[in-house]
Amino acid sequence: MYGNLITEVDRGVGIVTLNRADRHNAFDDQTIVELIDVMGAMDANPDVRVVVLSSTGKSFSAGADLNWMKRAAGQGEEENLRDARNLAEMLRRIAQLSKPTVARVQGPAYGGGVGVVAACDIAIATFDTQFALTEVKLGIIPSAISPHVIAAIGERYARRYMLTAERFSAAEAYRIGLVHEMVADEGALDDAVGVIVDSLLKNGPRALAACKSLIGAVAGRPLSAEIIEDTAQRIARIRGTEEAQEGMASFLEKRKPNWIAGN
Ligand code: COA
Repeated sequence: MYGNLITEVDRGVGIVTLNRADRHNAFDDQTIVELIDVMGAMDANPDVRVVVLSSTGKSFSAGADLNWMKRAAGQGEEENLRDARNLAEMLRRIAQLSKPTVARVQGPAYGGGVGVVAACDIAIATFDTQFALTEVKLGIIPSAISPHVIAAIGERYARRYMLTAERFSAAEAYRIGLVHEMVADEGALDDAVGVIVDSLLKNGPRALAACKSLIGAVAGRPLSAEIIEDTAQRIARIRGTEEAQEGMASFLEKRKPNWIAGN
């Protein structure tokens, strides 16, 4: 049981809901530790094939809890650093989960909230969602979230939005690649998340994990001899696995693979 999260597993889908609506789902030390823990649990649970990250209330997340941030700075050096490392670890766990992650964004996402959206594999937001990287306005920097945000929107847009701290719309988030889709309202959001989840559930679970690892290894790297060799080894390794043999056989035999429910 978690104090600031609601979790559920339903037909292959792990749903993690930020549930600190009175604080606009801002991340304090407790929420961060709980998210680290739940991501480990979702990764280890064989019944979970996809994870959806959502929120209660009117905001997706107001980012770091500024009471916590302010307090952390007053702690001893070791504790301050440990706290900061936890936030980075929370984002790493989301980004490197061995299962696909989908962000269901239903309201403002600021600072660390943008970081979480960027760390998820796929993000869908309602049309009226506002985004902002407000850190410099507060005299701090978007540090732990920067690898994820820059990977999502690129250095050029990161320079603009990290330096101006201006708010931007869902349409802009869509244009610069922070979200993959924007929809009219929360009903349409659930439908759109459902479509993505259904697509993911049709795919080989081990292939999805291997594909995430592949993207992590290849993204942002030059086409070196080392990368070419690595990609050759990855496909050579996976095509001999039971799952790959089943996937290819099911296509050739015109049937569903054995990982699809009701097969
Ligand atoms: N940390 C701590 N508390 C926060 C918070 C945060 N990141 N964001 C909001 N809150 C608190 C407010 O201080 C307020 O507390 P109070 O009721 O004790 O006064 C409460 O949540 C409600 O916020 P309020 O601003 O009154 O609600 P709103 O609906 O007008 O606006 C937001 C909601 C999220 C748009 C606005 O609160 C906001 O801009 N928050 C800051 C977001 C931010 O810059 N985050 C980046 C941090 S690195």
